Amino acid sequence: MLIKPNDIQKVGNLLMDTVHEEEIRLLNELYEALTKKEINRIDTLMDELLVDLEDHFTTEEELMREFEFFAYPMHKAEHDQMRQRFKEIYNAWKKNKNPDEVIRFLKDEMVPWLKSHVARWDSTTAQQLGD
Ligand SMILES: [Fe+2]
Ligand SMILES: [Fe+2]
Repeated sequence: MLIKPNDIQKVGNLLMDTVHEEEIRLLNELYEALTKKEINRIDTLMDELLVDLEDHFTTEEELMREFEFFAYPMHKAEHDQMRQRFKEIYNAWKKNKNPDEVIRFLKDEMVPWLKSHVARWDSTTAQQLGD
């Protein structure tokens, strides 16, 4: 398992917590496929993750705009960095089909990013929005 559900802090906003739980489920499924080197399944899950990540970030950005969250530009900038980084890994996967490359990205970048991003930005955002 790549991420245990409790590794990612609950932010106290039902919509955001649900989006995070769904993403953790997808990331763990992808990780399992990667460790088994199931190329077709990895391919499908990478496509799903691309869409899921965009939905995740867009959902939060729409909430922030609706509630005029003061730190919107900073929070969105972190999303944009991960959007760009994931797109690079996604394109590398489509080209090389190398599971180890994706595993390295998930462990060294995605998971640490998710933990710290949720703890710093998503929780601050959720505190302002309430549930
Ligand atoms: Fe989030
Ligand atoms: Fe976020």
